[in-house]
Amino acid sequence: MTGKLQVFPQTRLRRLRRAPFIRDLVRETSLDIKDLIYPVFVVETPAGETDIASMPGIRRWSLDNLTRHLTGAVELGISAVAIFPVIDPALKSVDGREAFNSKGLVPRAVARLKKEFPDLGLITDVALDPYTSHGQDGIVDDSGYILNDITVDALARQALVQAEAGADIVAPSDMMDGRVGLIRRALEERGHSNTMILSYAAKYASAFYSPFRDAVGSAAALGKADKKTYQMDPANSDEALREVALDISEGADMVMVKPGLPYLDIIRRVKETFDVPVLAYNVSGEYAMVKAAAHAGFIDEKSCVLESLLAFRRAGADGILTYHALDAARWMTT
Ligand code: PBG
Repeated sequence: MTGKLQVFPQTRLRRLRRAPFIRDLVRETSLDIKDLIYPVFVVETPAGETDIASMPGIRRWSLDNLTRHLTGAVELGISAVAIFPVIDPALKSVDGREAFNSKGLVPRAVARLKKEFPDLGLITDVALDPYTSHGQDGIVDDSGYILNDITVDALARQALVQAEAGADIVAPSDMMDGRVGLIRRALEERGHSNTMILSYAAKYASAFYSPFRDAVGSAAALGKADKKTYQMDPANSDEALREVALDISEGADMVMVKPGLPYLDIIRRVKETFDVPVLAYNVSGEYAMVKAAAHAGFIDEKSCVLESLLAFRRAGADGILTYHALDAARWMTT
């Protein structure tokens, strides 16, 4: 900061905004394609391939077509994807055991994508909700309460299966206590010491996930139930720091804040408090809002998206998971 406050007319902040060259020179934050992670939905059969009504432009891809789709994404400069499965309802169960089937959809998708795109970073979601008949992220007791410790055992098995298939990063998004530590231990014991853990450390019980739940088909299963006994209360901020501290101490390599735009204050606090990479998830509901407003002609999509992504970086995010990744990559290269 300047020692003595300079006032008008000595100081005219508009001088630094007058021309593009100087705006470019003094810009504090930048956005690059390499900062973006593209979330994708994978489904078992080409017959199951569909667009997602609440997420225009996003599709549930079968493996062959996902491979084709990602060829274009890689050409655009996308360097990492997060894989989310749409599981056949016949394979869903009360305990979500399909999550750790080593021949399941996710391990097969990982193995295939790793083979096709050896340099593409593959991130897999560790959580039971796509696999449970009730749509919760964990195993429930008779009263519907999500049981922590047996869920964590299942998550560790799921993470191992993903690592064995070749995932670079496993990303627990479930918010059970102690899962990062158990996953880290399981990975180390089985020789996966280079598999990274991206923990969804500060994940809130948010209404902005509903298009995603449509996409993976957990919305109907979940019905009127919510996830407030494990995901965080949107009113809390100090608690996010406790969550992040625990996950780092348990062995998380990177932490995530989710949702994104309504939680930029949390990203900033986490980044200022901890010296770890912080990612942000620009979630499905945020995407849906921009798409709907742009479609109605109320906002300019490109400018609003690029401004929002830059805002994540300004808040302190090192990387951003966003369904806008492909469009943004296109806009940034042309
Ligand atoms: C579930 C999971 C969710 C998202 C990512 N992983 C939904 C939820 O917690 O109910 C949401 C992503 C999005 O809304 O884009 N483990």
